[in-house]
Amino acid sequence: MYFRWRAALCSIITLMVDGLPFQVEVEVMAEFFVAVRYTNTTPVTPDNLCTSWTPMIVCSSDEKVLELNFTNANLKGTLPSSLSQLEYIRSFVAKNSQLTGTLPASISNWTKLNYFDAHIDKFLIANNQLNGTLPSAYSALARLQSFYGDYNMLMGTLPSEYSQLTALGTFSCSNNRLSGTLPASWRTLLLMTELSVTGNSLSGTLPPEYSSWSMISFFEVDGNALTGTLPPEYANWTMLHWLVVNNNFLSGTLPVEYSVNQILFLRLRNNNVAIRIF
Ligand SMILES: *[C@@H]1O[C@H](CO)[C@@H](O)[C@H](O)[C@H]1NC(C)=O
Ligand SMILES: *[C@@H]1O[C@H](CO)[C@@H](O)[C@H](O)[C@H]1NC(C)=O
Ligand SMILES: *[C@@H]1O[C@H](CO)[C@@H](O)[C@H](O)[C@H]1NC(C)=O
Ligand SMILES: *[C@@H]1O[C@H](CO)[C@@H](O)[C@H](O)[C@H]1NC(C)=O
Repeated sequence: MYFRWRAALCSIITLMVDGLPFQVEVEVMAEFFVAVRYTNTTPVTPDNLCTSWTPMIVCSSDEKVLELNFTNANLKGTLPSSLSQLEYIRSFVAKNSQLTGTLPASISNWTKLNYFDAHIDKFLIANNQLNGTLPSAYSALARLQSFYGDYNMLMGTLPSEYSQLTALGTFSCSNNRLSGTLPASWRTLLLMTELSVTGNSLSGTLPPEYSSWSMISFFEVDGNALTGTLPPEYANWTMLHWLVVNNNFLSGTLPVEYSVNQILFLRLRNNNVAIRIF
């Protein structure tokens, strides 16, 4: 009896002192390498996790995985849902590969962190072959600043729940198969500076509600099926430099309220929008 208690107590102490998250991270990364068919011949161990794959794996001084950057790493499989167990991650980058399958909803867990100030702020998976939808569960990633999902095969709608991503500065998801409308609920994304949803199948109108985006400088919605007019309310976008709305079904005129002088790049072609000569 005594020995059984002693053994149990020892394993509890090991969990607490040796840092269970660290062992979990070793297992998660080993599983990641297999899942994405990363050409990795070295087995992942607690000793090499933070040293053998720099700069692709960046750890904190206390050896927690903070950043993964596998840009151009020729990844081929799917993103494993066990990634959600990387509790300290701040930045996940897997651009320019051939990842397939869907975006795991489980990583909405990346917000439920027990480490002071840990949070995901960058999620960059552009240029892969990911399909499925933008998980509405990602609305929990409360401190996400940049999302780049361009050039994939994502479908479904822009989740209206992303109105909760109030730290978001860049949302870029051009050249996918997104449909539905630009959600009016996104009016709450007050830090939005760059929105690109070029080359999807979005329909409906440009929400006048986005006039609240006082930081917006880059707004690109060309190559969709948007209808209606350019909202005069966007005259409120005093930081706007880039306005690209060509190849839609917009009509009306460029609102006289817009201060076109500060717009450095303006594309309206292949709509039915008349431009007055100022
Ligand atoms: C990721 O790594 C690439 C080089 O492979 C680098 O150019 C890029 O800036 C890195 N991105 C981030 C967000 O760290
Ligand atoms: C998504 O991609 C996977 C793997 O490439 C494929 O098996 C699946 O049929 C695709 N799903 C859709 C809805 O296209
Ligand atoms: C969320 O993370 C916890 C541990 O941090 C894990 O037990 C749980 O399975 C995760 N949930 C999902 C959906 O991955
Ligand atoms: C215009 O932007 C300001 C902040 O810069 C905001 O207070 C105001 O509500 C906005 N107007 C509209 C119509 O959204």
